Amino acid sequence: MGRLEDKVALVTGAASGIGAACALRFAEEGARVAGLDLQGPVDGAAWDAAVKAAPDAWFREAVDVRDEGQVREAVAAVRERFGRIDVLVNAAGVGGFSVAHLCEEEEWDRTVDINLKGSWLVTKHVLPAMLEQASGSVIHLASVEGIEGMGGSLAYNASKGGVVLMTKNMAIDYAKLGVRVNCLCPGLIDTPLTELLQGEELAAVRNRMLEWHAMGRAGKPEEVAACALFLASDDASFVTGHSLVVDGGWTAGRSATG
Ligand SMILES: NC(=O)c1ccc[n+]([C@@H]2O[C@H](COP(=O)([O-])OP(=O)(O)OC[C@H]3O[C@@H](n4cnc5c(N)ncnc54)[C@H](O)[C@@H]3O)[C@@H](O)[C@H]2O)c1
Repeated sequence: MGRLEDKVALVTGAASGIGAACALRFAEEGARVAGLDLQGPVDGAAWDAAVKAAPDAWFREAVDVRDEGQVREAVAAVRERFGRIDVLVNAAGVGGFSVAHLCEEEEWDRTVDINLKGSWLVTKHVLPAMLEQASGSVIHLASVEGIEGMGGSLAYNASKGGVVLMTKNMAIDYAKLGVRVNCLCPGLIDTPLTELLQGEELAAVRNRMLEWHAMGRAGKPEEVAACALFLASDDASFVTGHSLVVDGGWTAGRSATG
């Protein structure tokens, strides 16, 4: 029996990377999966596999998590189709580089609105279903950059710091009502979001970042999905308000001896 048997999971950012890997892993564990994203499945691979594992899987593209009307409508469609929502993964997100005196207002708004406001908006519209059921697990995607500062990453750093504290805030407000709220803080994960760092041009930057991971390598979306599965499942029944690092030792610290 799968670890999410009889559960319905809604995953944002399901077209790509970590969201697609979560959708696939959850489907393999018996969940009925609903995915939403701004775009259609990126190369089809992970989402197509999720659909094969969960034949009644549902996907809607052209849903912008910044737009409350679109989010309200999409979440209502999921409830109508599946009758309930047990797990929410907020994996829709964008990266970006900026420093304070050069960052354009547009860049700040886009990053903070998608990564932080979008995660709140989707949760806002999923919570009524979870409160009715008196059970649910919400998993936000933060980052190691929600815990540590990262030069050159103003808006992203700020958005992910916000996600970590939003997680704790929601955990407190809904703990007695049966809803757990946690977040994941990945290090560098090879997905389309970090494609730039996988090319020749930024090889030096990537190598420096790899050194920050005690394990000396980047992570895979499947490794993040495995941690999301734990937080989604009843195995995490006493875990709420937690920021789980999935970072190959990035935040563990540094070694002076190499
Ligand atoms: N890849 C990494 O190294 C890494 C590290 C730490 C945290 N994260 C976080 O994990 C999450 C997923 O990242 P990923 O690496 O899988 O990226 P990705 O680019 O592969 O996937 C992100 C998805 O979010 C969707 N999206 C973007 N804006 C949207 C919007 N306004 N409305 C709806 N969907 C939207 C994109 O279309 C895309 O399919 C993000 O929040 C990211 O910040 C990623």
